[in-house]
Amino acid sequence: MTSINPASDFPENQPRAEGSKGQVLIVDDEANARNALAELMDDAGYSVSTAADGRTALLQMEQVDPDVVLTDLKMPGMDGLSLIERGRPMSPHSTFIVMTAFATIDTAVQAIKLGAESYLTKPLELDTVIAIVDRALERTRLSREAAQLRQRMDDRFHFNNILGEHPSMQRLMKNIAQVARSRATVLIHGETGTGKELIAAAIHQNSKRKDKPFIRLNCASLSETLLESELFGHERGSFTGAMARREGRFKQADGGTLFLDEVSEIPMSVQIKLLRFLQEREFERVGGNETLKVDVRVVAATNRNLKQRVEDGRFREDLYYRLKVVQLDVPPLRVRRSDIPLLAHAFLRKYAAENDRSVQGLSEEALQHLMIYPWPGNVRELENAVERAVVMCEGDLIDRDDLPTSAHGDLQNGSVMALIPGVTMSELERIAILRTLDAVDGSTARAAEILGISQRKIQYRVKEWGYQSATID
Ligand SMILES: Nc1ncnc2c1ncn2[C@@H]1O[C@H](COP(=O)(O)OP(=O)(O)OP(=O)(O)O)[C@@H](O)[C@H]1O
Ligand SMILES: [Mg+2]
Repeated sequence: MTSINPASDFPENQPRAEGSKGQVLIVDDEANARNALAELMDDAGYSVSTAADGRTALLQMEQVDPDVVLTDLKMPGMDGLSLIERGRPMSPHSTFIVMTAFATIDTAVQAIKLGAESYLTKPLELDTVIAIVDRALERTRLSREAAQLRQRMDDRFHFNNILGEHPSMQRLMKNIAQVARSRATVLIHGETGTGKELIAAAIHQNSKRKDKPFIRLNCASLSETLLESELFGHERGSFTGAMARREGRFKQADGGTLFLDEVSEIPMSVQIKLLRFLQEREFERVGGNETLKVDVRVVAATNRNLKQRVEDGRFREDLYYRLKVVQLDVPPLRVRRSDIPLLAHAFLRKYAAENDRSVQGLSEEALQHLMIYPWPGNVRELENAVERAVVMCEGDLIDRDDLPTSAHGDLQNGSVMALIPGVTMSELERIAILRTLDAVDGSTARAAEILGISQRKIQYRVKEWGYQSATID
């Protein structure tokens, strides 16, 4: 362990160096302590700025947006507590750490209440300082990342709670918006767990019918007789157990939307009645003669290949064409892998809040596993995996071990190749640039040489992605 000795004056404001571990602001009125710590942190690979009091620190923060602020508590003028109070809203992602002598631990506790992450007791020990600062940097990184994701989501085209930035999802959402306004029957096709029901609900929510009922029926869950009666209603005594007249889902959905899930499972005898409704907008209750007319928009979903069913003689061709006036294909998660971080973070926030856990994010390794796993159960499987991880997780980061073992992708083959198909060219460009920069300690000149593109292009991209320093973890 190295203890900290007085040293010569440290320059007040050092710009963030390429390849530095992160930007640290040291605030202490005692010049010796401040300079010594600054020298040591500088040697340890951080970009360091310094300030002798809270007011100067605030000015510094405006210029450098530090990742971590290490502040003394007692200082003339503006003290450490006021600095935290004023500085936090200004630099919401900065992590504050207070440095305090044993005698003032009470004040340190107060500082934590104001939003400081932790405290260090003086005299400082370098190893402890570095460990705590590194943890703080990780926290800052996660906080910035989450804010960036939120920002990106706000900028994009999106519906209620359907998340997805991948071009295939963006196009799907555009189609949803267009089709929602019409009255056209919609067939949503996609593997299990891809979000078909969510999309059906979004179509309803974004239509003129939104204040009318959204009624859902799973066509696979009922016997032939019950399904028919459930859809169209029945007259009293129309079959054993039909004690009274009952209205069906079509009637309940009048003015609104009827969502027919697993539509491929409708038996032939019921298919013809559904076809008639789609053609004539009318039907009779089971066992009745009265013809009912309702205004219902039908949205159907299937995870089967309906066309194949038609060829196999199990689904009426005329009904097939009536249903797919508009067909929406929901891509499986494995061909839009670049949406995985977005979805994982959203589910993480949701389940952390629901379970009252303070989980902040995912470790790099955990995220890599999620990225390359093929997700046969699609978004639902991912959601379940993240929910479980939030509950299992002991620290504030979800780690690989918190994920179900089934979701452990093969990291051995976890090369960029494992992400294809599923990521866009610009995503690949991003990965290539960031990984290369990482391998050459952030030198854009060397990265440019390796990648065979101009240094300016790299700098431009890195800036565009919002990274302030060229080191990427
Ligand atoms: N793009 C998305 N953004 C956010 N959450 C999603 C998305 N897609 C699916 N989900 C979530 O995943 C889960 C499964 O979605 P949903 O029930 O709509 O899938 P489905 O296609 O109807 O599945 P199944 O074929 O098994 O019925 C839900 O909890 C849903 O909220
Ligand atoms: Mg469903």
